Amino acid sequence: MRSADRILVLTGAGISAESGVPTFREALEGYWSRYRPEDLATPSAFRRDPHKVWTWYHERREMVRDCAPNAAHRALARWTSADPERRVLFTQNVDGLHDRALDELNEAPHRGGTPEAARPRTLHGDLFGVRCSTCAWKTRHLEPLDPSTLETLPHCPDCGALARPAVVWFGENLDPGILDSAFVEAERASVCLVVGTSALVQPAALLPRVVARGGGAVIEVNPDPTPLSAQSAVCLPAPAGSVLPALLD
Ligand code: OAD
Repeated sequence: MRSADRILVLTGAGISAESGVPTFREALEGYWSRYRPEDLATPSAFRRDPHKVWTWYHERREMVRDCAPNAAHRALARWTSADPERRVLFTQNVDGLHDRALDELNEAPHRGGTPEAARPRTLHGDLFGVRCSTCAWKTRHLEPLDPSTLETLPHCPDCGALARPAVVWFGENLDPGILDSAFVEAERASVCLVVGTSALVQPAALLPRVVARGGGAVIEVNPDPTPLSAQSAVCLPAPAGSVLPALLD
């Protein structure tokens, strides 16, 4: 890592586990062990029962609001903002905790706010974003929502249609600009640091494989093995909150 010219970091739900945010695929607590993704996280689920989908997103928004960045988010914020051009962070998480760790860091009196280059690029959208279910309107909606009826949920100011969460659902494409920049970074990176992801969801899971194919080293931080472990130069099988401060500071 010291000699690497460019480092791509890919994070997943596991980095937020120590903040109290459930992951998706872990037994018992993982969302997809308790619910069916096709009922909550697909365009057809939203068409079928928008109220049910919004209720779930409302609950997740309120749960995340009560969580705080942990030692892993904070270590990454310090490390990426020390050299944001060469240390680029892509996250599959929609919880905003990487951003909040950066903001906490840069709100210190001697800092001048978070530089844009240090911001994580979010592959799967934003839990606090809403967008029109019909047209292109999009905004951030930080205040709590009222999901009591469909009428009390946000509607598009342009066309009047019901808004939806600005997240990527199963069967939807990722933002092409973000995805392209991720693959450009993966082609250029000589190290890929992969933290807290099961590495099962495409296209995000391809990024470390592209780095490895180009001769770069994959370093995996995950208490459990994943399909990526066999291709990793180094596996650090422990929680991100203890590994990342030690590794990056
Ligand atoms: P998963 O739930 O699939 O995987 C979480 C991973 O985090 C597992 O491999 C755990 O072993 C690991 N983990 C748990 N605690 C950890 C800790 N303290 N430190 C480090 N690792 C830990 O979550 P993702 O891989 O992020 O997509 O899932 C990918 C995508 O699938 C999500 O972005 C979401 C989901 O459906 C969308 O919503 C589009």
